[in-house]
Amino acid sequence: MNNPSIPSPDAETSLEALKALVRQRNLLAALRVFHAHMGEIFHLKLLSLEAIMLVGPDANRFVLVTHRDKFLWRNEADPVVALLREGVLVTDGDMHDMLRRQMNPSLHRKALTGYVEGMWRATDAITSQWPGTAASIEMLAEMRKITLLTLVESLFRVDLMPDLERMWQPILKSIAYISPGLWLLWPGVPRPGYAARLKTMNDYLYAIIQQRRAVFDAENAEDLLGLLIAGGLDDDSIRDQLLTILIAGHDTSTALLTWVLYLLTTHPETLHRAQAEVDTVLGTRPPEMEDLSQLGYLGQVIDETLRLSPPIHLGSRIVAEDLIFNGYTLPAGSRVMYSIYLAHRDPNHWPEPDTFNPDRFSAENKRRILPYAYLPFGGGARNCIGTAFGLVEAKIILARILQQFDLTFTGHPVKLKMGATLEPKPGVRIVARRRVTG
Ligand code: HEM
Repeated sequence: MNNPSIPSPDAETSLEALKALVRQRNLLAALRVFHAHMGEIFHLKLLSLEAIMLVGPDANRFVLVTHRDKFLWRNEADPVVALLREGVLVTDGDMHDMLRRQMNPSLHRKALTGYVEGMWRATDAITSQWPGTAASIEMLAEMRKITLLTLVESLFRVDLMPDLERMWQPILKSIAYISPGLWLLWPGVPRPGYAARLKTMNDYLYAIIQQRRAVFDAENAEDLLGLLIAGGLDDDSIRDQLLTILIAGHDTSTALLTWVLYLLTTHPETLHRAQAEVDTVLGTRPPEMEDLSQLGYLGQVIDETLRLSPPIHLGSRIVAEDLIFNGYTLPAGSRVMYSIYLAHRDPNHWPEPDTFNPDRFSAENKRRILPYAYLPFGGGARNCIGTAFGLVEAKIILARILQQFDLTFTGHPVKLKMGATLEPKPGVRIVARRRVTG
C-alpha cells in the first residue's frame, strides 16, 4: 500500500507559527497556525520533542474510542511516570482497568451527595480568611487551597488544613516536576531541587495510609482510600493512586475555577446573571446536591470556560502497532497527541471561537455540538474518572463564592500558561467584597 507521508510544516508556515508564538508567547498559538494550514494530521518537531498531532472530532474518536487499545498511555521517558510510578493515569491494559474499577465507586455520581457539604465548608474555610474589602487576592492560589482541602477530605477522609502550609511547596513541586519544561527538549537535563520536597510528599501519603490501616473498618470504606485498602493493594500502589488523584483531581479544578472567575469578572453581565441565579436558587443557605440542576446558567458558564481554557489541553499516547488514520501510517512507537484545545477553538465547529459565550451551551444550542468536537474530560474508556466530581465541585464552590462575595477583576494582563494544566499566568487578582446579604 502506498502511504503518503504525514505533512510537516513548510518554511512559510513555520515562520508564521513562530511569529504567532513570539507574539502571544505561547506554543498553542503556533499549533493553531499549523492546524489551520495542515488540517487534522501533521508532524510536530521541536528539538528532541517529536509527535504526530491528530486534530478534530474524527481524530479524537479514532484515538479515544475506535482504536483506544492500540494507543498506550505509559511512556517510560516521561517524568509523569517517574512521579506516579504505577498510578492509574500512567498504566495500561488489565492493570489500568483493575485500578480504575477499584476507585470508581468513590467517584460515581451516587457517592457525590456525601461530599457536597465538605465542598462548601472547604470554600468557607478559605474565604473566611479573605480580607473581604478592597484588597485584591490572587485566585489561582486560593482556588488551589479550596480544591486541595475538598479532595483530601472527600476522597481520603483526611483534614489537610493543619498540614496545608507545610505541604504547599511539596505539592507545587510535584506539579512542576511533570509540567512541560526543558526536559521535553533535552530529556537528560539535570533536575535538582526536587528530591527533598518529593520525599516530604511521599512521607505524607505513606503516613495517611498507615493511619487509615490502623483504624480500618471494611464496613465504612466507601471513600477512595478506603476502597484501595479494602481491595488489598500494597502501600506502594496505594501511594501511587493517592498521588495521581491528588494531582489530577485538584490541579485541573484549580485551573477551571480560576478561569471561571477571570471570565466572569471580565464579562460583568454574565457575572450578574450567574449571581442572580445563585441568589434566586439558594438565597443565603448553603448549596445542596438538589440545587445543582437549577443552577443551569452557572453550568453553561462552566462548560464554556472548559471550552475556551480546557485545563487538560492535550492527550499524549504511544502507538502500540502500525495504524492507518485517513490514509496516513502512524508507525508503532511514535508519539501521538490529540488536542482538546485545538478542537475547542476550531472555527469550523465554533463560530467566533475566541469569544466567551455561555449561550453556546444553552439546552437548545448544546444539542447541535458535534460529538468529540467538545471533550474537556477526554473520551472513551479512559475519559476522566473525576468528571462528575469535578463538575459538582465547581458548581458548589462557585455558587458559594458568588453567594457571599461581589467580585471585581483588577485588570492586569493574563496569559495562557502551559503548565501541568492550562493556567492563567500570572494568576488572577480579584477584589472580593463580602456581600451584606451573604
Ligand atoms: C475540571 C476538572 C477536570 C478536567 C478538565 C479533567 C480532564 C481530564 C482529561 C481530559 C483526562 C483524559 C486525559 C487523556 O485522555 O489523556 C482526564 C483523566 C483523568 N482524570 Fe481528570 N479532569 C478533571 C478533574 C478530575 C478529578 C476531580 C479527578 C479525581 C478526583 C480526576 C482524575 C483523573 C484521572 C485519574 C484520569 C486518568 C483516567 C484513566 O486514565 O483511566 N480528574 N482528566
